[in-house]
Amino acid sequence: MTTGSGTVQVVRSVAELEGIREELRGTERTVGFVPTMGFLHDGHASLLAAARAQCDFVVLSIFVNPKQFNQASDLEGYPRDEERDLGIAAEQGVDLVFSPEADDLYPEGFATSVEVRGLTDVLCGSEDSRGAGHFRGVTTVVALLLNLVDPDVAYFGQKDAQQAAVIGRMVRDLAFRTRVAVVPTVREPDGLAMSSRNARLSEAGRQTAVVVPRALERAREVALSEGPAAGIEAGRAVFRAEGLEPEYLEARTLSGLREVEEASEDDWMLAVAVEVDGVRLIDNLPVEAGTGKGAGR
Ligand code: PAF
Repeated sequence: MTTGSGTVQVVRSVAELEGIREELRGTERTVGFVPTMGFLHDGHASLLAAARAQCDFVVLSIFVNPKQFNQASDLEGYPRDEERDLGIAAEQGVDLVFSPEADDLYPEGFATSVEVRGLTDVLCGSEDSRGAGHFRGVTTVVALLLNLVDPDVAYFGQKDAQQAAVIGRMVRDLAFRTRVAVVPTVREPDGLAMSSRNARLSEAGRQTAVVVPRALERAREVALSEGPAAGIEAGRAVFRAEGLEPEYLEARTLSGLREVEEASEDDWMLAVAVEVDGVRLIDNLPVEAGTGKGAGR
């Protein structure tokens, strides 16, 4: 089924997407792709803007991927608002929205999963966190979407730094022709990273959540002068003052997710996951290689 919403074409079936992709192959147009689970915010808008600026044809996918949720309640509670999403897509000049049903994307008998090992055992992939199964779900759906959309460039947010690293490795290892572009995190005026999950915070929780960027800023400041271990301790102290204990707060390289001991190492980040007001938030601050400088936030 195809429906018009403003100037955006919405495609709900894999067969129809394949037909459109085949037609595009006959042209010289470059394709930019932004995969999402919907409930779009300014962070997604910045990915779409980058795709619009760099590519001739922009595809947005909206699919709440059941394979990447460990708990049914998390999947069911995931915020959805397709009408609003389509309005944002139109504003951002998206050419095509792919919004499939789960049983079209994963038909009966679907038996394959894609797993990137190593990078998925740490941070959000550790057993104390969401577990490697989460990333298996992400890489399986992203591999499938990349095969269907066949984009020249696919855009991911720096906010999900581990996801970007894992997908970058998958694309390299499996020789996808797509280039992965990582776009800086977009923040609310008080510094909270934009996330669809922020909508689940109560008013009080939203106020408390500002501790996340503040703790990261403090951690980075101390890490740059006294080293990553001292920075992590300083960041933890900021959380403790709010009665919060992060699930993790670690210094790791951006692409290999290796633990960092010296501030002068390769491009690295301070990454955190913490539950605030019953909502699990993640964020990170990158640090430029060798410069000992923050690479923005
Ligand atoms: O970042 C997300 O929204 C999802 O993990 C993605 C990449 C769309 C895969 O479902």
